[in-house]
Amino acid sequence: MIRKKGSLILCGTFLFVTWNAILVLLLWGRPLPGQLGESGQVERPTSDILGDLLQMAKSFETELEMQKEILEEIQNHQSLWQPSNRDRPKVVAPPQPVIPILVIACNRVTVRRCLDKLLQHRPSSELYPIIVSQDCGHAETAEVIRSYGNQVTHLKQPDLSDISVQPQHKKFQGYYKISRHYRWALNQVFKTLSHSSVVIVEDDLEVAPDFFEYFRALLPLLKSDSSLWCVSAWNDNGRDGYVDPGKADLLYRTDFFPGLGWMLLKEVWEELEPKWPASFWDDWMRQPEQRQNRACIRPEISRTLTFGRQGVSLGQFYDKYLRYIKLNTEFVPFTKLNLSYLQEVTYRNAFEKEVYNAPVVSYEDVKQGQLKGPGPFRLQYSSKDSFKVMSRNLGIMDDLKSGVPRTGYRGVVSFISRGRRIYLAPPPGWTQYDTTWS
Ligand SMILES: *[C@@H]1O[C@H](CO)[C@@H](O)[C@H](O)[C@H]1NC(C)=O
Repeated sequence: MIRKKGSLILCGTFLFVTWNAILVLLLWGRPLPGQLGESGQVERPTSDILGDLLQMAKSFETELEMQKEILEEIQNHQSLWQPSNRDRPKVVAPPQPVIPILVIACNRVTVRRCLDKLLQHRPSSELYPIIVSQDCGHAETAEVIRSYGNQVTHLKQPDLSDISVQPQHKKFQGYYKISRHYRWALNQVFKTLSHSSVVIVEDDLEVAPDFFEYFRALLPLLKSDSSLWCVSAWNDNGRDGYVDPGKADLLYRTDFFPGLGWMLLKEVWEELEPKWPASFWDDWMRQPEQRQNRACIRPEISRTLTFGRQGVSLGQFYDKYLRYIKLNTEFVPFTKLNLSYLQEVTYRNAFEKEVYNAPVVSYEDVKQGQLKGPGPFRLQYSSKDSFKVMSRNLGIMDDLKSGVPRTGYRGVVSFISRGRRIYLAPPPGWTQYDTTWS
C-alpha cells in the first residue's frame, strides 16, 4: 500500500519534470520579443512572431492545466503518505519584534570598538537595526561611521549651535548638548522611524555576547509590567570580586536608573519627551517626578563595559570604578529561561524574604572576613552616614541619587564581599526613600 503511493508520487514528479524540460526546449529555438537588433534598438516583433506567440500561449495554457492536475495529485497523495502531518495544526511563529540599537556618538573615533562588538555579536540585522546618531559634526568620527556602509544607519544631529546657559554652567555646555542630542535621536527612533522600543548605548560601550539575547528576553516583561520602565545591561557595583561569577543568569529589579546600555519603550518616551531637561538627563530621570516608583531590570554581571575615559564625565570616576566593571563572557540563553520571578509582587516577596531572613552581621565581621557559613548575610544601615561609611569602606558605590543608592531595590544593595553575599539593607519595615539623602 505504502509502496504503491510512493511510486505514484515518483511517477508524478517525473511527469512534471519532463513537461518542464519540453517547455524549455520549445522556448529555446525561438527568438524572444523585444530582443536587441543590430542597431541597438529594440525591434518590434513582426506579425509572424506574434502569431507564433499566440500559438505558444495556447499550448502553455493546456500545459499549465495539466501540470496543475499533476501537482494536485502529488499533493493529495503526499498527505496520505505522511499521516503524521495530516492532522498537525500549522505552526506559524509569531513575528519577532524589531529592537533597534541606538548608538549615541559625537567626536570619539573609538566608536569603532563599540560598533565592532555590536556587529560581532548581533544575531540578525533585521531584528536589530543599528542606528548611529552623531552629534558634534566631527569629520573623523563621521568617516569611521560611514566606513560601516549599510551595516548601520548614520544619522546626524543637525543643530550644532552652542546652547546659551547660565554663566556658572558654562563648563557644563557638554551636558546640555548631550541632552539635546538624546531628545533629537530618540525622536528620530520613535517618531520618524516609528519603532516601538529601543536599546540605547553610548559610543564608549562594549557589549557582551548575550547583550541582544538579554534585551529580547526582557522585552515582554518590560511591556507587560507597568512598574518597570527600563531594562539596563549595567551593574553599578559589578566589579570583579563584587559579583558572583557563577550567577551569570541572575537578574534583579532596581529602583536606581543605571543607564549604560538600556532599553526604553515608546510609551515611556512619549511621557518623558515633552518635559525632557536641558541638561543632566540621567539624574533628572532619577528624580521621583520622573521615576514614579518604577524600577529597572539589571543583571548581576554587566552586559556592557565602558572603555572611554575622556569625554564629559570625570576621568577620576572612571579610574576608581568604571574601568574595573566585569563584562559577562558566558552566553546565557535568556529567551529560553523562565523570567516570571522578576514580576513585581513575586519578586518583592521573594527578595524581602531572602534579605530579611539572612542573619544580621556587623560591619567589622564583614570587613575582616570573619563571617561563618556560606551566607547570605545582612548588614544594616539606619542613616545616610552609616550607609556612606560602610559602602565606601567595603568598596561599593556610596552615592545616592534622589535618595536611591546605586543598584538599590527597596533600599537594599546586594553585592559580594570576600566570596559572601551581603545585603546592605535598611531596618525591616522600609517604606520609602528619603530624597534628602544624596
Ligand atoms: C515559571 O516559574 C514560576 C515560578 O517563578 C512558576 O510558577 C511557573 O510555573 C513557571 N513557568 C513555566 C512555564 O515553567
